[in-house]
Amino acid sequence: MTDVQLRNLVKTYPGSSTRATDEVSLDIADGEFMVLLGPSGCGKTTLLRMLAGLELPDAGQIVVGGRDVTYLPPKDRNLSMVFQSYAVFPHRKVRDNIGFGLAMRGMDRNEIRRKVDWAADLLQLGAYLDRYPTQLSGGQRQRVAVARAIVVDADVLLMDEPLSNLDALLRLSFRSELKKLVEEIGITTLYVTHDQSEALSLGNRVAVMREGVIVQCDDPLMVYDRPASRFVGGFIGSPPMNFLTVQIDKNVDGPGTAADLGGHVIPAPAALRTLHGGPVHLGVRAETIAISHDPGAQAVRATVRVFEPLGSAVLVSVDVEGQEIKVQAPNTFRAAPGDTVWLTFAPSDLRWYDAETDLALETV
Ligand SMILES: Nc1ncnc2c1ncn2[C@@H]1O[C@H](COP(=O)(O)OP(=O)(O)OP(=O)(O)O)[C@@H](O)[C@H]1O
Ligand SMILES: [Mg+2]
Repeated sequence: MTDVQLRNLVKTYPGSSTRATDEVSLDIADGEFMVLLGPSGCGKTTLLRMLAGLELPDAGQIVVGGRDVTYLPPKDRNLSMVFQSYAVFPHRKVRDNIGFGLAMRGMDRNEIRRKVDWAADLLQLGAYLDRYPTQLSGGQRQRVAVARAIVVDADVLLMDEPLSNLDALLRLSFRSELKKLVEEIGITTLYVTHDQSEALSLGNRVAVMREGVIVQCDDPLMVYDRPASRFVGGFIGSPPMNFLTVQIDKNVDGPGTAADLGGHVIPAPAALRTLHGGPVHLGVRAETIAISHDPGAQAVRATVRVFEPLGSAVLVSVDVEGQEIKVQAPNTFRAAPGDTVWLTFAPSDLRWYDAETDLALETV
């Protein structure tokens, strides 16, 4: 059983006035693939390096498999790490690159060969074992780095943006290979990225970080569907979640209430009735909005600003009462700038955020 517990980790670099990680706590279950996602500089690498033992926290505790490793040197933690840059040895053949960690541990040569063949097979590197890294493509080189990390039978695999040097197509194919591989070997993994689509596709859970703090940790579909704050909704998804500022009308009779958007009425949950007056932010995903050239009951009038074909869908930027949002429609939909269109929002797709704190409002 190798689960990981990070408890209240604080790290301030010398000469810095802000905390790179600020009381971060995170539990990773045995065999779980946890993704750490957040914008540049939010503290992801710092957290990973503290777990690896390459950086010491100022306060807090790190427990791996029930053992307190907070102040142990890296070599006593039994973790392996893949870095952002390829970090393969140019003067060693692929075979010796993969087996490097095993040789360092003094493993028997036949045993090393067996393990290297196993990893090369998993990562489709069998044909390249006697080549040098300069004779490989970027994706193959990155696979060598991953193979080297998995042969050593580590308890936890740490990866810091391992795909960032690959072009878009290679990233996509290597992403699914990596997912399959980690599922096969079932190793507890912490994976760092600032790419939200990578996070959603790979993670059993995604921990979203901002300015040294984990702001939401949940399964990928929940993070996408129910962002805990405007920040999370705006960071995850392509396009990001739309936000509209609306006024809650508390004087509506019946089971719900209403949000007023420049005279248009959008149904809102009754729980919002208890809010103090003033505006709230309405969050809505582009693909959940229905768009039509014909006015329907409760449809909201909008004006088309930009029409973008995406291939599998079309993206329409529209102006609603002076606020711009994006609507993703089927690729059969056509519109031109200046057209009047009508939008329909399904109440179950609407998320509500406090105008001051930007945090999700309880609506049930
Ligand atoms: N060695 C260091 N000395 C001083 N400050 C540092 C050091 N390493 C990182 N920092 C600072 O700590 C904060 C967190 O950095 P970190 O590298 O953890 O971010 P990150 O989330 O990994 O970003 P990126 O996505 O760009 O890799 C940043 O403000 C950074 O400038
Ligand atoms: Mg980093």
